[in-house]
Amino acid sequence: MPQHTFILNGSTTTVDVDDDVRLLWVIRDVIGLKGPKYGCGINVCKACTSHFNGKAFNPCSVRVADIEPTDEITTIEGLADTVDGDLHPMQEAWLEYDVAQCGYCQPGQIMAAVAKVKAAQAEGREITDADLDEIRNVCRCGTYTRIRQAIKAGARAM
Ligand code: FES
Ligand code: FES
Repeated sequence: MPQHTFILNGSTTTVDVDDDVRLLWVIRDVIGLKGPKYGCGINVCKACTSHFNGKAFNPCSVRVADIEPTDEITTIEGLADTVDGDLHPMQEAWLEYDVAQCGYCQPGQIMAAVAKVKAAQAEGREITDADLDEIRNVCRCGTYTRIRQAIKAGARAM
C-alpha cells in the first residue's frame, strides 16, 4: 500500500494506507487518536473538526493522498501542546463554563472555536457574535449558549 507522511500534533507521521481513505479514519482507526469524532462523514456535522495548517478543517472529507509531508494537522489531543501550560485557554474556559453534556461534539467545538478566535486575532480584532454565528458545529445536546460564553472567555485568555 502507498505510504503517506504528514505532521500530526507536532510529530512526523507515516501511514501505510490506500490513497482514497479519508484522513479521519487514518487518524482514528490507523493511528488511534479518538478525539476527532465521526458524526456524518460528509463534512456537515463538524464533529471531526481539527486544524490543518492552523485552520479548522474536517478530516472526514479529505483523502489521505491529498495531504503533503509538510502539512501540519492538529487534533484536540495536540491542542494543549501549542501553548504553555497543561491545557489550552479554550479548554480551561470549557471547564469553567461546564460546557459539555454528552461530550461527543465537544472536541470539534473547541477546535472550531480556537481557529475562529485565531482568525479574528490575525485580523487584529476581537471575536464578534457574527463570528460565532459562522460556527456550524452541531451539538445534539444543545449546549450552544454555554459554548458561546466559553468561546468569549477563552478568547480573552488567548
Ligand atoms: S464527521 Fe466530519 S463533518 Fe461530520
Ligand atoms: S454535548 Fe452532546 S452532542 Fe454536544
